[in-house]
Amino acid sequence: MSPFQITRTLPEDATDAALRADVLLGLTSDPKTLPPKWFYDAHGSELFEQITELDEYYPTRAEREILATRAGEIAAATRARTLVELGSGSSEKTRYLIDALTDLRTYVPVDVSESALTQAGQALVAERPGLEVHALIADFTAALTLPDTPGPRLVAFLGGTIGNLLPPERAAFLASVRALLSPGDALLLGTDLVKDEQVLVRAYDDAAGVTAEFNKNVLAVVDRELGADFDLGAFEHVALWDPENEWIEMRLRSRTEQTVKIPALDLAVDFKDGEELRTEVSAKFRKEGVRGELASVGLELAHWWTDTEGRFALSLSTAR
Ligand code: SAH
Ligand code: TRP
Repeated sequence: MSPFQITRTLPEDATDAALRADVLLGLTSDPKTLPPKWFYDAHGSELFEQITELDEYYPTRAEREILATRAGEIAAATRARTLVELGSGSSEKTRYLIDALTDLRTYVPVDVSESALTQAGQALVAERPGLEVHALIADFTAALTLPDTPGPRLVAFLGGTIGNLLPPERAAFLASVRALLSPGDALLLGTDLVKDEQVLVRAYDDAAGVTAEFNKNVLAVVDRELGADFDLGAFEHVALWDPENEWIEMRLRSRTEQTVKIPALDLAVDFKDGEELRTEVSAKFRKEGVRGELASVGLELAHWWTDTEGRFALSLSTAR
């Protein structure tokens, strides 16, 4: 058997049906919204990789620093034979874990982006002889069925992606992750931390405009998949810090009064001049909050590591 396998857990038309349902609900709500998982087509995944290299976008570098420093401790604490990674993207930082986990047999990257999974998975099996990669094209917010591979199992959720879920979604998500773990298994969670507002806003509104292009990519996806006529130039990227919720909110602001047609939904959507469409939140965390959210699903915080500047945290928690 090839060391690289890829499994689609949903039929292809399910993606289409989910996109239609999400766009219909989101664009007929007040205020209008679009859910973030639709950013990541092949172009979106590519733009996200460019974001990770921007001067202003510190989370990737900070998390990489922690992984480079702590991979040995993570390996010693977990002794994982199976590593599952949710929202794995390029799996670039994951190499620190794969190299440190001496008993690792199987890596299971899970992502909605087929292009990211194929690229990362094929590179990994070529670089790491003996490693099996079983990629899953799946939505990590839906019920996951993992391949039957030997434990202990380590589930990694990096990049601060957990902050892109709204609090009720986050609670449901953590409960479903907990259900994947048996006693002795562990969760490695990356969380971006609350910090100076200027630093946060810049990370989501870079000078070169890459984040703006990424944010607008969700409109390009709706244009291509549903035949809509969103004019990307008629919307402005907005990133705001919400101090009450402690999250960055990404929006697209209509530069003018306009009507957008979405033929596949038989829908016309009116935008007022200046009207904002919410596309994504990126919540920022504090240690006690993370501890509490983990505890409420039966996970015990065992380690908390930050980068030297204290911007980002990796936590390791264990199933009781
Ligand atoms: N873990 C990588 C990538 C983070 S970007 C890193 O730390 O750099 C977020 C990733 O999650 C993207 O690859 C995106 O395709 C994926 N993703 C977003 N929503 C998802 C969902 N609902 N189900 C599965 N994957 C999702
Ligand atoms: N998980 C990333 C984060 O919250 C995703 C991200 C970075 C993002 N920049 C973005 C999502 C801009 C939408 C728009 O940091």
